[in-house]
Amino acid sequence: MVTIIRDNAIRNSVKLKLTITYVAILTVCLALINIFVFLSMRKEYISDKKSNIFLYQRTIADVAYEADLNKTPLFNITMETISKQSNSRIYVIDKNYIVRADSMGERENTYYQNPEAKKAIEGDRTFKLRGFLRNSYLSIATPIHSGDEVIGAVVFISPIEDIYDRIIVIQKRVFTISVFILALVTLIGYFISVYITKPIDNVVDAIESMAEGELKQRVEVKGNDEIAKLCMAFNNMNEKIIKIDNERRQFVADASHELKSPLASMNVLVESLISSNCENKELTMEFLNDIHSEIGRLSNIVSNLLELTKLEGSFGLKVDKFDLNSVCLEVVKRVGFIAKTKNVDILYDGEKIEIEANRDNIFRAIYNVVENAVKYSSEYSTVDFWIEKELNYVKIHVKDNGVGIPEDEVPKIFDRFYRVDKTRDRKTGGSGLGLSIVYEIIKKHNGYIDVESRVGEGTEFIISIPYVFQG
Ligand SMILES: Nc1ncnc2c1ncn2[C@@H]1O[C@H](COP(=O)(O)OP(=O)(O)OP(=O)(O)O)[C@@H](O)[C@H]1O
Ligand SMILES: [Mg+2]
Repeated sequence: MVTIIRDNAIRNSVKLKLTITYVAILTVCLALINIFVFLSMRKEYISDKKSNIFLYQRTIADVAYEADLNKTPLFNITMETISKQSNSRIYVIDKNYIVRADSMGERENTYYQNPEAKKAIEGDRTFKLRGFLRNSYLSIATPIHSGDEVIGAVVFISPIEDIYDRIIVIQKRVFTISVFILALVTLIGYFISVYITKPIDNVVDAIESMAEGELKQRVEVKGNDEIAKLCMAFNNMNEKIIKIDNERRQFVADASHELKSPLASMNVLVESLISSNCENKELTMEFLNDIHSEIGRLSNIVSNLLELTKLEGSFGLKVDKFDLNSVCLEVVKRVGFIAKTKNVDILYDGEKIEIEANRDNIFRAIYNVVENAVKYSSEYSTVDFWIEKELNYVKIHVKDNGVGIPEDEVPKIFDRFYRVDKTRDRKTGGSGLGLSIVYEIIKKHNGYIDVESRVGEGTEFIISIPYVFQG
């Protein structure tokens, strides 16, 4: 079943799908780039800030140690300056977590503890990013040593809000560029998809035209990609369809012509009989005999046509094992009657040979070829008929000394209704279907036929069929 795409919306949707795919992929990529830029900037900033704070903490720890954690003026100024510079709240606590100095002066002498402060009192310098997005802050603590002993800790609480302001400025620029790139890619993507789908549209148009009856179509093939292959396949298919269509027309014309001739001559004969009122018995008998032979011709053509139609069907071949020699002997016997009337001798040479094939079909094929050899031989001549065994094939030779076939006509003799000499064959009653049937039979058996012929000298048909049928 062929479904023809007539709806332009469906055809356009391929372009749409392609464009949407480009845009979706690009959007995801740009979003990932944005996230990546954001994360790496933040990481960079935090690591910068962290190392600065470590330095500041070292300074405060030294001053606090010197002041023995007591708020001396130097200690106060250092705390204030560093707090401003680093934009941090600074606590200096003793080992009991009592705040000895607070940069904002609010929590002095109160208890203060957080996980980083605890770790610092235990002797480790630690840092942690806490909070979420704009509310994130760094919590960093460093121990204050007196010799090996930890006497307190410096704790920095440092918001990182300002990084977001800086990142947002850059992100805005990245976003603007992203939107610009997206718009550009959407446009380019659309044109690319139009370019890609154009040949497909051409094929669809051609198929639609074919469905409307304009069989001869051709699409342009560009390049060597899959779409070019599709176009090439379409062109090949189109050529084959046209060939089949021409053959069909020719066949109908030939068949009508062949059927018309016996009908026309019967018409004349019957009209003559009617007008003569069948008064002359001898003439009446002669006409009736002629009508009889025309009916024979008609029924011969019809049964041959039926046979061809059957052979062309896609049914499987019924095969069995049989002796080819006995089939050939039967052919000699059956064609012998015709041969006798022409005093033609059929010289057959063969021995028992088992093959696997359809016996009736093989009989029919050999019969047609031997009958032709006799039919197209002159009187008092001989027909040589023998079997030759080869490795994979058995070859059946039928050689006559008859009229022969002109070289350029040899390929045509297997066409339906083809006769080399139309007038001569009309007399012999041939319809030109015999060899078409032979050809179909041998093709179905995976065999082949060779013909060697010389005008005025004779013809040899060699039919090759495999010993075992492989369907
Ligand atoms: N052995 C032969 N010698 C010379 N011409 C031949 C020979 N065999 C076939 N031909 C030519 O090939 C044509 C086609 O043969 P084919 O057997 O198909 O048809 P036919 O013999 O004319 O009719 P049909 O076999 O249908 O009764 C013949 O009309 C004849 O011109
Ligand atoms: Mg024939």
